[in-house]
Amino acid sequence: MRVLVTGAAGSLGRAITVGLDRLGHEVVCLDLVPPVDGSPFAWHEADCTDADAVAAVFAEERLDAVVHLAGTPEEAALPDELTSHVITTAALLDAMVAHDVPRLVYASSNHAVGRTPRADGELGEHVPPRPDTYYGVAKVAAEALMRLFAERHGTDAVACRIGSFLEEPTSVRGLSTWLSPADGVRMVEAALTAPAPGYAVLYGVSANTRAWWDLEPGRRLGYEPQDDAEAYAERIAAGPDDEAEAEFVGGPYATARLHRPALG
Ligand SMILES: NC(=O)c1ccc[n+]([C@@H]2O[C@H](COP(=O)([O-])OP(=O)(O)OC[C@H]3O[C@@H](n4cnc5c(N)ncnc54)[C@H](O)[C@@H]3O)[C@@H](O)[C@H]2O)c1
Repeated sequence: MRVLVTGAAGSLGRAITVGLDRLGHEVVCLDLVPPVDGSPFAWHEADCTDADAVAAVFAEERLDAVVHLAGTPEEAALPDELTSHVITTAALLDAMVAHDVPRLVYASSNHAVGRTPRADGELGEHVPPRPDTYYGVAKVAAEALMRLFAERHGTDAVACRIGSFLEEPTSVRGLSTWLSPADGVRMVEAALTAPAPGYAVLYGVSANTRAWWDLEPGRRLGYEPQDDAEAYAERIAAGPDDEAEAEFVGGPYATARLHRPALG
């Protein structure tokens, strides 16, 4: 497939572009910033919040799918979050419809449901949206927009609610939420190639022994994670905030530390 990867210069973007290339996909990159030296991929320096700039990329490239990873990966003021996640997704979806690009894979987040109490048990794909932050609110809204386009235009749209994408887990919570780079590539590949998913949600975590996510929605799309954070458990020391962060699925994002005015 010829795949546009937005946010290609970022942490997920660097791993996913290389992984998709190894799997035989043709990768086209888009990011606000120029390519790192030696990047072998076609590269568009553009802002996904700029609908005209996004349309210009689609006019130039023949594409089979979009993997949307561009966006701020942390909490900020509500308007900035909505711009970074909802407006970017809207610009891409509009261009996809205009150019008959049939599939979007989106880096959503566990923080879309982060205010779900851990006591509720394993999280399935149909739990109600329960954002823990403005970041989470924006992810929920981006997912809703994907669903609208799936139902209105038939766009296949897979929202991957990613846990913690890192080389290795670094905290007790991470032993549950870790997504390894190799599993991240497996996840995106499955979301790109699953036959006719329509609108679908999967949990983007590895096969962690301590996970509290239902891996079945991903497995139905062909995502079979192979790594387990437990392999790192002995190296991880308990932290002072572990107990407070264990109350809600969103961990630190669901604690009072991040409370701030929506428009502040
Ligand atoms: N890293 C994680 O553990 C994690 C977990 C859940 C979800 N996510 C989501 O995955 C996505 C990527 O996260 P990351 O950790 O790689 O972040 P990152 O900050 O490392 O990379 C994001 C990239 O997007 C680019 N970008 C930002 N805004 C842009 C715009 N408007 N137009 C074009 N490019 C833009 C940045 O230049 C950067 O290269 C984000 O949407 C984030 O919310 C990440």
